[in-house]
Amino acid sequence: MKYYLALSLLITAGMAWADAPSPAKSGYEFVKEETRAMQDDEFQNPGFIAVEEGRGLFNSQPASGKSCGSCHGDDGAKLEAKNLARYPIYDKELGGIVRLDDRINVCREKQSGEKPFPAYSKELLALETFVRHLAIGEPVNVQTDGEMADLLKKGEDLYKIRFGLIDMSCAHCHDSYPGQFIRGQKISQGQGNGFPAYRLDTGEMANLDLRIKQCLVLMRAEPFAPDAEESKLLGAYIMSRSNGLKIETPALRY
Ligand code: HEC
Ligand code: HEC
Repeated sequence: MKYYLALSLLITAGMAWADAPSPAKSGYEFVKEETRAMQDDEFQNPGFIAVEEGRGLFNSQPASGKSCGSCHGDDGAKLEAKNLARYPIYDKELGGIVRLDDRINVCREKQSGEKPFPAYSKELLALETFVRHLAIGEPVNVQTDGEMADLLKKGEDLYKIRFGLIDMSCAHCHDSYPGQFIRGQKISQGQGNGFPAYRLDTGEMANLDLRIKQCLVLMRAEPFAPDAEESKLLGAYIMSRSNGLKIETPALRY
């Protein structure tokens, strides 16, 4: 009950319509100091368990005999951090917006000849975490021109429309109220540079798409399917807002 009261206050209190927050600030700046220290310590950050699981999967040979490492080098030595920082990318042949986990599954199916991993499965999250971690420290660099421009505009529209029973948009919380508290959590700008991240709240890893879904559930809205166009558009828009922020995978978040 208290929660709904707080929400309706939030809705009626500030009417100013905010644009994307500038400068962009990582979620890192909104978590407690202890959480930041834990994220920075490889031995304490539980996200590194997923990195190691992903590394194991990357290097191990599936039935086809073609491990990821057989093409991309042991431990992904031949993957380029700069390219990884560009995800999600636009790829016409692959059907439009391609997220990093989509790209991994394309390789798993077409190059290794194995069945793709289901969305949000432990294996796919671990592989995505491992691959993305190869680009830690690299600034997010999502394409914003060309084919991507229109798609990002569509993503922004989704970000600004009201969803669900509480009738709020993503922008209500993440553009208008960063720094305010809700249920004991400090609202951040909702950036994507830390993902996949380990969530203290759920005790599990989440990639950006899953994190978006968790916010939709919080909004009492029907989440989009993992491969729905809406999921891809929202995710791409969020990552474009994070352009310039350093990749932190695996970040530690609430
Ligand atoms: C038989 C060789 C082969 C195997 C096995 C393979 N890949 Fe790939 N991978 C490729 C090729 C070829 C590309 C496309 C390169 C390009 O677009 O320039 C690619 C692209 C990628 C990219 C995008 C890199 C970029 O710079 O944008 C990622 C990430 C990736 N693979 C991950 C994986 C993972 C994870 C696995 C294991 C599940 C895997 N690959 C298995 C050949 C392979
Ligand atoms: C009622 C307020 C509220 C609304 C509306 C909301 N969120 Fe959130 N969101 C939160 C809270 C609270 C968190 C956890 C603390 C934080 O990082 O902001 C969060 C976290 C996030 C994060 C993770 C940020 C990080 O660095 O860990 C992303 C991404 C995000 N939200 C996206 C969205 C999207 C997309 C929507 C719309 C579909 C949305 N949120 C709607 C409250 C909200």
